[in-house]
This record gives sequence, C-alpha cells and structure tokens, in this order.
Amino acid sequence: MKKNVGIAAAILFLAVTAVSCGIGGKKPEEKGNDFGREKLITVGFSQVGAESDWRNSNSLSMQNAFTQDEGYNLIFKNGQQKQANQITAVRTFIQQGVDYIVLAPVTESGWDFVLQEAKEAEIPVIIVDRMVDVSNKDLYSCWVGSDFELEGKKMASWIKYYTQSIGIDSDDLHIVNIQGTIGSTAQIGRTKGLSEAARENGWDLLAEASGDFTETKGREVMADFLKRYDNINVVYCENDNEAIGAIDAIISAGKHPGPDIRNGDIMVVSFDGVNKEALEYAKEGWISCIAECNPMHGPRVKGLIEMLEVGEVPDKLNYVDERLFSSIENVKTIVVDGVSYNVEGIGDSIQGLIIPKAEIEVDKHVEADILLGNEQFDFYLPLLEGKRTALFTNHTGIIGNDTINEKHILDALIENGVEVTAVFAPEHGFRGTADAGSDVSSSVDEKTGVPILSLYGDGDTKEPSSKDMDTFDVLVIDIQDVGVRYYTYYISMYYMMEACAKAGKKVVVLDRPNPNGFYVDGPILEDEYKSKAGLLPIPVVHGMTLGELARMINGEGWLSTGKNSCDLTVIPCQNYHHEDIVKLTKNPSPNLKTAEAVLLYPSTCYFENTVVSVGRGTDNPFAVFGSPYFEGIESYDYEFTPVSTEGASNPVFEGQVCYGISLQSKKLNEISEEHINLNYLIDAYNYFQEVNTDKSFWGKKDKYGKFWVDYLFGTNKVRLAIEEGQSPEQIKASFTDDIARFKEKRKPYLLYQDAE
Ligand code: AHR
Repeated sequence: MKKNVGIAAAILFLAVTAVSCGIGGKKPEEKGNDFGREKLITVGFSQVGAESDWRNSNSLSMQNAFTQDEGYNLIFKNGQQKQANQITAVRTFIQQGVDYIVLAPVTESGWDFVLQEAKEAEIPVIIVDRMVDVSNKDLYSCWVGSDFELEGKKMASWIKYYTQSIGIDSDDLHIVNIQGTIGSTAQIGRTKGLSEAARENGWDLLAEASGDFTETKGREVMADFLKRYDNINVVYCENDNEAIGAIDAIISAGKHPGPDIRNGDIMVVSFDGVNKEALEYAKEGWISCIAECNPMHGPRVKGLIEMLEVGEVPDKLNYVDERLFSSIENVKTIVVDGVSYNVEGIGDSIQGLIIPKAEIEVDKHVEADILLGNEQFDFYLPLLEGKRTALFTNHTGIIGNDTINEKHILDALIENGVEVTAVFAPEHGFRGTADAGSDVSSSVDEKTGVPILSLYGDGDTKEPSSKDMDTFDVLVIDIQDVGVRYYTYYISMYYMMEACAKAGKKVVVLDRPNPNGFYVDGPILEDEYKSKAGLLPIPVVHGMTLGELARMINGEGWLSTGKNSCDLTVIPCQNYHHEDIVKLTKNPSPNLKTAEAVLLYPSTCYFENTVVSVGRGTDNPFAVFGSPYFEGIESYDYEFTPVSTEGASNPVFEGQVCYGISLQSKKLNEISEEHINLNYLIDAYNYFQEVNTDKSFWGKKDKYGKFWVDYLFGTNKVRLAIEEGQSPEQIKASFTDDIARFKEKRKPYLLYQDAE
C-alpha cells in the first residue's frame, strides 16, 4: 500500500510492493547467521520519531547495522514523538514474536507495563539512547547511549572557562535554556548540568522552556525569550536543531549570534554535532561550542545482541565516549568532577558524525508500504507446522496486493505444505458473491478439494458445529473487514473464536488494515439492540482492525469462555497507522463496490429498510440514495432505477425511478473528514415528512416491535432524536463521552499508531 500525501490523513492504496517477501511459495528466509540460527534474527525497533538530524542519523545507523546480509530482519516503527505510539509498537513486536525489541524511548517514565508484557513474552529488550525509569531493572536486558548529564556538565564547564577567559563576571551571565523534550533523559541530564553550574557559579539563569529538540520550536521559544528579556547573552540549546532556530530568531530580532558577549553578541552553545548547518554555524562562530551526542548506535546495539545470542550477559549500562568541539581557541581543556577533557576544533572528526542528507532521505521512505499479515510467512508458517489448519476467509484473502498474479491464502498455505482441512466462509460466501443476508450453503472448493463450511445460513451468522470444529487444530483468519459494527465478518470471527476457546484450538489472525480505521464514531450498541447486525458493545465505527478487535474480544472477556480464554496470535500488518486511509482493490462484499462506498457506508447504511433505497441494484450502492417518494424535490435531482443483479436480487424499488443524491464523485478526503454524516438521513427524514403519504419513513417494525435503523445504530435514541428535530451536532454530543470511554478501553489492544 502506498501513501498518497495529498490529503491530510494520508490515503493509502492497496498496492503492496513485495518489500522483502514474495508472495505464495515463499519459504522462511533460509539465510544463516553466525549464531547458529537458520533464520534471520528479527529485531523490532521503536524509534522516537524524526525530530532532529541526530535522530535521522540514528535511524540510519540502525538500518545500516541490521541488514539481511548481516543476518537480520529489522522492523522499524516511527513513534512520531508519542509514547502511546511506541507502546503500541512494542505490543505489535510482541504479537509478531520478534527475537529482540529495541526501544529508543521518548521519555523516561511510563514503560513498566509494556516492558512487563515483553518480559512475559520472553523477548529481550534493549534500550537505546534515552533511558527508561522502571521499578524493576530486569524489565530490560541492557542500555546503550550517551551520558547526557556529563554532556551538560562539560558544556557548563566550557561556558565557565570561556567567560572567565574574556573577563566576564559570573553575575553578568544572563542565560536562557531552550530545553529538549521534557522528561527525556537528554533533557533531564543537560538541564541538570546547566542548572547546577548556574547555582554554583552564581549565573543568572533567566528562563527555561522546551523547544522539543526541533528547529521550529527553538525559533519560537527564542523569539519569545527575546521579547521578555533584553539582557540575554548566552543561549544554551539542548540540541543543534533548536540552535539553528534560535539563531534565526536572534538575527530576526536584529541581534548578532557570537562569542563576543562583551560587545553585545548573544552566545549560542548546543549539543549533538550531527547537523551540517550547525557545523557551518560553528565554523562561522554563530555557535560557540557543541557537545557531541553520538547517534551511531546501530553497531553498538548489534554488538549487544550478538553477546545475548551467544549467552553472554552484557553490562547493564553502556555509556558512549563523547567529545566537546569549539572553533574558539581560548579554552583548550575543561574539567568536570576532577576529570579533564580536551576541547577539539570543528574539524574532520566532528564531520564524521554527519551522514549525507541523501542517505537520510532513505529513512523517510521506511514506512511507505504496508505489508499485510498474510505476507509475513516467517511469522505464521511455524505455527501451522504439523497442524490441521482451517481458514476463515473469503474472496478477499489474497496474499498482499498483487492484483496481477493474485494468490489466495488457501493456495499459498497448500503450496507451503500446510494441511488445510477446512475453509469457513462468512455472509456472502467464500466467493463473496451471495446476496446480503441470504442463506449460504456448504460446498467443496473445486480447485483444492477443501471443504467450504458456511458460517451463514438462514439469514444469520451461525456458530460452527462441533463436527466442523473437529476437522482442524489451528484456525487462521484472513479476511478484509471494513470496521463497521453492522458489517458481519467480525461476528463470524467472534463465534469462531468462542468455538476455538471451548475446543482449546489456537486462532491466528493475519491482520489487514481497516479502511474506516482512522476514526471512532457512533453510539455504543445497547444490549437490547444486539442482533445479527451487531454483537459487541462497541461504537458503529470502532476504528480497529480485526486483529485488534480479536485482542479486545479476548482481553475484555467478551467470549462466554471468559477473559483471554482464546489462544490468540495476531500477525500485525507492518507500516500501517490508523491515520492512513486505505483504498481496497477487492470489493469486500458485493454491494461495497468502490472506495467511496466503503467510506460512506457508516453514513448511508441507515436507509436500509426505510422508504429510501441505498442503491442496491445499481453500480454504486451506499454511494447513492433516493426514493420514488422524492420526485419533484429540487435537491434530490439524481435519478436511478434499481435492477436485479448478482449480489442484489430483487432490490428495493426494483424497476422504479428513485430521486436522490449521488455521493460517488465526492473526494475521499472530503468523505473521510465527515466521519458518520447524519445529515443525509436527517434531511431525507425531514423531506419525507413533507410528502403526503401515510407510510412511516423508517419502514416496518420487526416481530419484536423494533425498526431496523435502531439495530444499525444499536439504540433507538438516534431515531428518536431525529424525530424530535435535533441537529447532527446535538445527536453526536449525546455519545461523545461513551466514545471517549471506549477509546480508553481499547487502548491496550491497539497494534498500530492511533489516529487521534
Ligand atoms: O536523545 C538524544 C537527543 O534526541 C539528541 O540530542 C536530540 O537531537 C535528539 O532529538
């Protein structure tokens, strides 16, 4: 899947390039390595983000160290500065069963739970760069990184020696500190180094504020400091990117960055030594001193893994030696805690830390392609070895997205020597062509001879029979869902999970993106409205993949067999984030025919069984709606006539002209921003009240006295609010708190970076 960055929430196209795996027939990597393993060693690396040049060099150093040629498979996840994303990444790595987890934590606190989970999964964790502050140090194997406090102390010592050398009194030093990300080890150590020295030397530490290690924030914070203080003569920037921003602000304010503070210069000092522009500034004298922070941790982490591989126990804390650089020659050495350090010039040695920009660009593309769960054979074939395997799938179970050489998971498993004994098929059947709600009978797949067992009969989802359950040992689930509570594939999955839990059989979900996974909206299902179109206490749009939902079903104890009663493994997609909008190339069911329809489905489905057709029996079901009753209504000027088709036999208003609206030409980003759009339903309801008929807009009640629309919403409250004349905003406000609670609840089950 490729990202199209033209819209705010990036649109992703199901165009998976077979990044490291081909499709079908692919065997687990057979390349050996020096540790006696036959397979590549898989390392999941959760990186903080890409906030600075330091970070980019660090990412590249890791990618260069953990190559396939060296015997590694590196899974890289960018946390985008959010701890929640990093926790999700670690959970994903655990699910994937990686061999090692490497974590570059954004801040120190808040890691106990997820590291405990990694420990329970027996996956060694190596912390790199910043540290974690956990109650039990055994939660990680070892750490490698910089002595940030020493860096700060060195810099403070240099300021002291330099300002003394030019005859500035301590109390004439007016310093501001542009801090790094608050709570990160780099910030804590560097801030401490300065504040202790300021106290000891009697410097005037005017102000501290975070620039988040970025150039933009550095500029902003400095501009603000300059407005508030007119006597600043030293700016202590906790990294080079902030320094570049600060210098820009200094120059914009008509001042001069430089070491001549006796004559009005504002002296800038900083950390890292990785940014090319910062080195130019240092040569120029705009940055007076740089404390090295070395980003080349890739080979170091690799060294630690190599020790662990051969059973050695590395030191718990591994500090990297670092230097101090300045183009000002006044200070040749500094002393910190009785130890002296040389001050080097801005020369070749510091240049060595710089990785050319062109190479760094590579990093930005790391997450460009989504890899489906089913493409990651190395992770799940071992779970099926020697096991009678059943599949829960349909026509969407295609490996990756090779639309030219389409290979179905059923064929791929058989080719890989897996003994497939049954295929369970949901509503619409194995081929995905049967009408919604129609009876689907069991059969045999012509090509493979594997029995197809239907989970949908008599217009409802069925639990598998005990006879069917006896046919297998492990169930593999690979099916494309659309993330809407009334779309029934998850209900079949639920029943399969429950049956497997009862029978003690393992379930493996090969995860796929959720095309409606970028938001959460709609009321939570009330018990009274449980039906074949809604089973779980989740909002209409829950924003989870099937893999995540399976984890929640299990973890929340929603199976009758109890909490975590299902032996579940999810093989997560790689490089997928909830903010991504995914365009499917295979229709998930016969009446979701376009990407627009998939996104509109949570807004237009409520017309089903009312006096309005949702376009079944046309080319654009769920992307058009209309009714013969709307003839003559000016704004309903789109005409269509439903006809009987495969997947839509005898549609509502068959052969009759319907007047309504076509939403098919709406842009995907426009639809995606609306989430559930209640206006379509509310407007149609209001127009219908003006039409002279004795019919109810909502259609007929069922035998329990309920309207179908209430089952879809999972409550009667939305319908009643519409009847009362409430606005979409008022209606949505009534379930905002429930959604917030649900989002909290689902957090531990997410495998992908959250969208909101
Ligand atoms: O944790 C290391 C720090 O993080 C670097 O100094 C800074 O540039 C980065 O973003």
